[in-house]
Amino acid sequence: NLLQMSQPAFQNATAEVVPRMASRATVPLLLLLGLLLIFLKLSQKKATLPGPSFCLGIGPLISYGRFLWMGIGSASNYYNEKYGGIVRVWIHGEETLIISRSSAVNHVMKKGHYISRFGSKHALQCIGMNENGIIFNNNPSIWKQTRSYFAKALTGPILQRTLAMTVESTRDHLEKLLGGNNNTTKVDVLLFLRAITLDIANRLFLRVPLHEGEIVAKVQKYFDTWQSLLLKPDIFFKFKCMYKKYEKAAQDLQDAVEELLLKKQQELRDTEKLHDITDFATDLIFAQTHGELTPDNVRQSLLEILIAGPDTMSVSIYFMLLLIAQHPEVEKKILEEIQTVTGKREVQNNDLQQLKILENFINESMRYQPVVDITMRKALKDDMIDGFLVKKGTNIILNLGRMHKDDFFLKPYEFSLENFTQSVPHCYFRPFGFGPRSCVGKYVAMVMMKGILVTMLKQFTVHSDNGNNLQNIKYIHHLSFHPNESQTLQMTFIPRNQAED
Ligand code: HEM
Repeated sequence: NLLQMSQPAFQNATAEVVPRMASRATVPLLLLLGLLLIFLKLSQKKATLPGPSFCLGIGPLISYGRFLWMGIGSASNYYNEKYGGIVRVWIHGEETLIISRSSAVNHVMKKGHYISRFGSKHALQCIGMNENGIIFNNNPSIWKQTRSYFAKALTGPILQRTLAMTVESTRDHLEKLLGGNNNTTKVDVLLFLRAITLDIANRLFLRVPLHEGEIVAKVQKYFDTWQSLLLKPDIFFKFKCMYKKYEKAAQDLQDAVEELLLKKQQELRDTEKLHDITDFATDLIFAQTHGELTPDNVRQSLLEILIAGPDTMSVSIYFMLLLIAQHPEVEKKILEEIQTVTGKREVQNNDLQQLKILENFINESMRYQPVVDITMRKALKDDMIDGFLVKKGTNIILNLGRMHKDDFFLKPYEFSLENFTQSVPHCYFRPFGFGPRSCVGKYVAMVMMKGILVTMLKQFTVHSDNGNNLQNIKYIHHLSFHPNESQTLQMTFIPRNQAED
């Protein structure tokens, strides 16, 4: 009874006390939970990106100034050296990451949402690259369509023909240079290599007669324009007087390419049946006829396939020749291999896989003294890179040159074939980039470099004039790493039979 009597009271008491206790405990519990969630979110989201501080906008101003003043390549090295493998800076006031850590570089190259590049729209318009061509085309759908034409032109049957064309062109140019004599000759090597690489591109992709010297000079000015304008502030383009000379340089090459296209069109009209093998220019012209590509895109695409070699390979091979001149023991090894594999005949496709020392040498040269040492991308989606939040729209510079100085290599800061004697996992060495926006010409480029080097080295040994070597010549380190051509960059070609006497 007592129990029965006390039960309602007990029930009442518990009914009042339990919610009170519960509400007292819930508040701190909820608070704790809230704090935990915030902490978790913060720790997930923000490992703060290293780099200079914003500091009322002074940080962005200084970093942008540094890029304009030092050049993209030099400024990227400066920041990676100072802050590590992932750095946040600003270009044009836009957040920009400079990445040299291989895990992060590979992440960006692999993913489909980094297939755009960045750069001043005015600059790209001025040089014809805005939404046209491939190299700095930042419209994903037009870029993708255009890239398929490049991919077709730079693989398959063309790749098979590349070596023969390269050997033929190199021999022709050496003969022209020497005028039939087998004498020691002083050579403006960069100019010489530009002419060869342009001629090979013409033989493979266009096949119309052209004036090499004139086009080479225009290609050089076009490249200077591209690199000078790419990061300029918008205000620069308001003053026509300031960028008039750049506009002219771009226009000159565009006009020359337009003329070549007209010649090609005429030739196609005159030819009754098509050549057995089609080429890049013919494919572009047909694509234009069928309304798949615009005339501007056709002209720009042809322009870009013609400049790709002279802008990259000629300087790469120049650096290789300087390295050969500086390292006679390496030259000896390469030459012995060439002689064992090819004997007295010209190099052929089947030989290439046997020229292992040459391949190691080319790779080590591109690692130690790269020409294309940075590449520029843009994030098209939010993403996490190595634990850092990267927002959509962030600019990205992949610092490949610095990534290639990784401790993985036996002697990262020295030129040594030992760096490639053990096989190097691809993730540590990406001279042509990787993934959907990688260098579409990488196979052709390797074949051309091998073909030019073998053909030249079989006939000549090279000496560098004026005591020039890789360490003491002056460079420009901006869109690419290349010699400053206000200095004399001659080399002497000495015929092998005379050098041995
Ligand atoms: C892009 C390196 C020669 C055509 C690139 C990129 C690199 C590179 C690093 C940027 C890749 C990226 O963003 O991931 C080189 C080197 C060369 C060379 C080191 C020679 C030593 C060539 C040649 C051609 C070529 C001979 C064509 C004939 C291209 C094109 C792109 C490109 C069209 C732009 C691809 C795109 O944006 O979709 N190259 N390249 N390259 N390269 Fe090369």
